[in-house]
Amino acid sequence: MDKTVLITGVSKGLGKALALEFKKNGFNVCGVSRTKPDFEIDYHITADLTVKRDIQKVYDTFFERFNKIDVLINNAGIGLYESWKDTKEQDLRKLCELNFYSYVFLTQKFLNHLIKTQGTIINVSSVAGKLYVPYMGAYCASKYALNAFSDSLRVELKPFKVHVLNLIVGRINTGFSSRALGSLEPPKTPFNASSQKFAKTVYKAYQKKKREITYPLWYKYFILLAKLFPSIYDRISLSSWEKSKNPRK
Ligand SMILES: NC(=O)c1ccc[n+]([C@@H]2O[C@H](COP(=O)([O-])OP(=O)(O)OC[C@H]3O[C@@H](n4cnc5c(N)ncnc54)[C@H](OP(=O)(O)O)[C@@H]3O)[C@@H](O)[C@H]2O)c1
Repeated sequence: MDKTVLITGVSKGLGKALALEFKKNGFNVCGVSRTKPDFEIDYHITADLTVKRDIQKVYDTFFERFNKIDVLINNAGIGLYESWKDTKEQDLRKLCELNFYSYVFLTQKFLNHLIKTQGTIINVSSVAGKLYVPYMGAYCASKYALNAFSDSLRVELKPFKVHVLNLIVGRINTGFSSRALGSLEPPKTPFNASSQKFAKTVYKAYQKKKREITYPLWYKYFILLAKLFPSIYDRISLSSWEKSKNPRK
């Protein structure tokens, strides 16, 4: 197979799991992050995706090495745990730069090339983009925006046969929370899915040209129930934070 995938946020977590899965399936893997991955990868580009000129650098450097792109996986993201009252402007801007604008700008950069290969864009979104969570409102807003981007983009790109797969991801133990912005510690959860299984599920969904998947699947029913009974959901989500709303250590 001569297919190439570009994955952002490749140095750790879900990006790393996706890189290993696509490599296992014969892809040339090119990854982007600020720090180098601790595993073998075909090509790594050091870039900060919140900096506009670094997006141009990713594009230029990618095409110095590869002559085409088949799959773009926008994955790099960061959390923010803070009340709206205390959310700092600089944190909100940094969050949106990475979780939303970098997805849009990188997609725009590579779009003509994805049209040539009739490729796929995979956006890593979150359950928090379907269901608001108190003290995570800014993060939710960035992922709600991302879902709107993915869904409208999918329709616009249909005539060009470019596919868009949107990933609604629940808690997976990657250390994501420990790297988040903001001063609060999120509630602990006993549910922590595996990043390897996540990557396998994504690969299958990519092959089947799915529009959207929820991983782990049970979150899909949870979202539905929360939408059917919003007052109950509000009470439960607030009380889970009230129990554990501590400053981050
Ligand atoms: N883990 C979960 O429970 C969960 C749940 C729902 C959705 N998600 C979403 O899944 C995606 C990946 O999350 P994860 O759990 O894998 O997080 P993670 O383990 O913290 O990894 C984040 C990746 O993004 C990179 N990154 C961070 N800031 C960057 C920047 N400014 N420029 C370039 N790269 C940057 C990091 O590398 P460097 O630090 O080396 O730059 C790292 O490779 C995110 O979009 C997140 O919102 C995660």
